[in-house]
Amino acid sequence: MKKFYFGTNTKMYMTARETEDFVSELSRLTQDISREKYHLFVIPPFTTIYSACAATLKNSIQIGSQTIAWADEGQFTGEVSPRMVKEVGATLSMIGHSERRHTFHETDEEVNKRVLCALKNDLQALLCIGETLDSKRRKISDEVLAMQIKIGLDGVEAKQLDNVWIAYEPVWAIGVHGQPAEPDYVAERHANIRQVLNSLYGENGNRVPLFYGGSVNPENAVPFALLDEVDGLFIGRSAWNAKRFNQIIRMVIHELTI
Ligand code: PGA
Repeated sequence: MKKFYFGTNTKMYMTARETEDFVSELSRLTQDISREKYHLFVIPPFTTIYSACAATLKNSIQIGSQTIAWADEGQFTGEVSPRMVKEVGATLSMIGHSERRHTFHETDEEVNKRVLCALKNDLQALLCIGETLDSKRRKISDEVLAMQIKIGLDGVEAKQLDNVWIAYEPVWAIGVHGQPAEPDYVAERHANIRQVLNSLYGENGNRVPLFYGGSVNPENAVPFALLDEVDGLFIGRSAWNAKRFNQIIRMVIHELTI
């Protein structure tokens, strides 16, 4: 069985104290789950990374940053560089989350610079992609996703792919006003994403795990997880309570192992 991933981005919700409580509870609740078969990660705000790492029992949960600067240091007020997040324990950086792209107007070219800088510094890069409702309506979702991947990974070499993950999160499915996608729709988009990766990297493209995110909840987590094309779930709101997240994780593991 392939490895399955469970992750959450806590956005701008939890303080350091709250993150510490969340991570330590999640770590404790999921202690018996095989880390060979299942990978857990939490992506909290910058200021909470240090406490999150300290609260993780035996590195059982990987901790990441919600974005990353595209330079190691310099005149970039407000940015945080790979070496800074690594110093406090992060080993992963999420790049191009929908809210970065749409609220902060990050472009594919900027996303690409961040990906390259993260990889150069040996951080796992989680590239987030997703089409808007407008693109979906115009039936250009696959074209938009292909462009986000091709520009986002421009200059990334095949040998770096073990440090690349992709999360497909349709913009219209994310957050409080989001509508979860239909599993069939997700399967089609994921198949297209895989094809794009194969067109860029041949067989090596299969090494990149693909996650689905956007209004994943206890009711729909299993159908998404059971799709062959889905290697992991990337969850927001429904994962911010450790007990609830643990419940989702266990439901999915149960179904995957039947
Ligand atoms: P949501 O968030 O699960 O609350 O829709 C997903 C995300 O933004 O990654």
